Amino acid sequence: MGDDLRSPAGRPARLAAWDGASRPFVTPSLLNCDFSKVGEELDALRRDGVVAVHLDVMDGHFVPNLSYGAPVIQDWRKRTDFTFDCHLMMSDPGRYLDDFVKAGCDIIIFQIEAVPDPTGLIARIKAAGCRASVALNPPTPLSAIEPYLDSLDAVLVMSVMPGFGGQKFDASVLDKVRALRSGRPGLWISIDGGIKPDTAELAVAAGVSQMVVGSGVFRPDGNYAAALAELAEGIRRGTERGSAPAPPVGPPSHE
Ligand code: DX5
Ligand code: ZN
Repeated sequence: MGDDLRSPAGRPARLAAWDGASRPFVTPSLLNCDFSKVGEELDALRRDGVVAVHLDVMDGHFVPNLSYGAPVIQDWRKRTDFTFDCHLMMSDPGRYLDDFVKAGCDIIIFQIEAVPDPTGLIARIKAAGCRASVALNPPTPLSAIEPYLDSLDAVLVMSVMPGFGGQKFDASVLDKVRALRSGRPGLWISIDGGIKPDTAELAVAAGVSQMVVGSGVFRPDGNYAAALAELAEGIRRGTERGSAPAPPVGPPSHE
């Protein structure tokens, strides 16, 4: 990989790598990594065959937590050619969009609850050469994003309320995944929150293209390769039962 892939100019090649990865795949969320040694964490994921990482940006306003912003991502960009799947959990993503584009993010995800009419924002993301994705929280109905589906590159179905890693998977959101998948067989559908091998199986059977995994990869024993192998096994099981009847859905865990 040349240096260009580790700069904003390498975006087309990084998106091509994303498109070329065998689906469905796991995108580790760095929210749960060891921030004292992010470079080493990225190298370990690369050795384990990961092609993209998910970056959780939290503003302490849209969500009750703070994480990191564009200057930090810009430094990570110099270190890695991973595709950056950037989840903006922010009240005003449009205000900072240019910073994240310049920092080398590739897929830009905003929250529909923060931007009820995202027509202009989607156009700006695409004009910058990035992919535009919208996230919707567990209580948010599909009707909130339906008017924009034709102009979006992807949809991220949140399976926890955003703000923290390590929460319990809300299986009720699988109804939204199934509805999206049956209406739009070619749509890129991501899911984020509480994904472990068993819930990866459910998500894949419902039709997701990609799973964001934080605590399920960066687990305390540090054996990310084993975690990814167990997730791959869950994905295999989910793919096998993809055409089977939908699993029963439990009550929502969000109050
Ligand atoms: C939640 C974030 C997620 C989170 C996932 O606010 O958007 O990306 O890091 O972490 P796990 O997999 O532990 O639920
Ligand atoms: Zn996320």
